[in-house]
Amino acid sequence: MPKLRLDRFLSNQTPLSRTDAIREIKRGNVTVDGVIQKQPSFCLETEKQTVMLSGVEIAYKEHIYLIMNKPKGVVCAARDKLSKTVLDIIPEKYRRKDLSTVGRLDKDTTGLLILTDDGDFAHKCISPKKMVPKKYIVTLDNSITDDDIAAFSDGITLADGTRCMPATLKRLNDRQAEVTIFEGKYHQIKRMFGVRNLGVNALSRVSIGLLNLPEKLPLGEVIEVNFDELAEKTINFSQN
Ligand code: URA
Repeated sequence: MPKLRLDRFLSNQTPLSRTDAIREIKRGNVTVDGVIQKQPSFCLETEKQTVMLSGVEIAYKEHIYLIMNKPKGVVCAARDKLSKTVLDIIPEKYRRKDLSTVGRLDKDTTGLLILTDDGDFAHKCISPKKMVPKKYIVTLDNSITDDDIAAFSDGITLADGTRCMPATLKRLNDRQAEVTIFEGKYHQIKRMFGVRNLGVNALSRVSIGLLNLPEKLPLGEVIEVNFDELAEKTINFSQN
């Protein structure tokens, strides 16, 4: 049965710092099984006891996994001096200390973004070794040719000499294409099309492995997902 100090539990499971957690406990704002607990060092049985902070239950979860439909104009960073970050637009109830994005989308890219405080999962999901496919819909300033499709399939060499792994490019209509990559280099898709003299006007990620962007998830909103389902569709799917 996992046990944790009450102050540590609160600072792990909420956005509170350890100092803030201790202050809340000492102020009498925290109950354990309905009884006010003023000892920060109180030894909590995390899976058995119920903790409430100012009347709101704090459920124990080792990690949190979120899916966002990222809107334009927000950056994938912990903080930014000029722009809002994806963490700024997440509802308070999902915020945790080590929450961060699994890979990054550019400020002007929309679509599927996973956020978690599980570093091991994040590492596996973005590692090129795992070959988790990431699919994007791209709107271009010109039509793609059969040569572009063949070049993507061979593996593009970027302007700075970096070799990309083979990628799949599929024409959808005159200006739109679907592109699937298996790694995540900086501005990779824009740079790959740049090599082919094609400009990217819009970019949206629609899937990671078998995980699709939920159709009904509005831009800027998040849903919580469970680890087993997420892993099965991403890091475990790619191993098969
Ligand atoms: N490639 C890009 O160029 N931008 C993104 O946001 C994602 C992949």
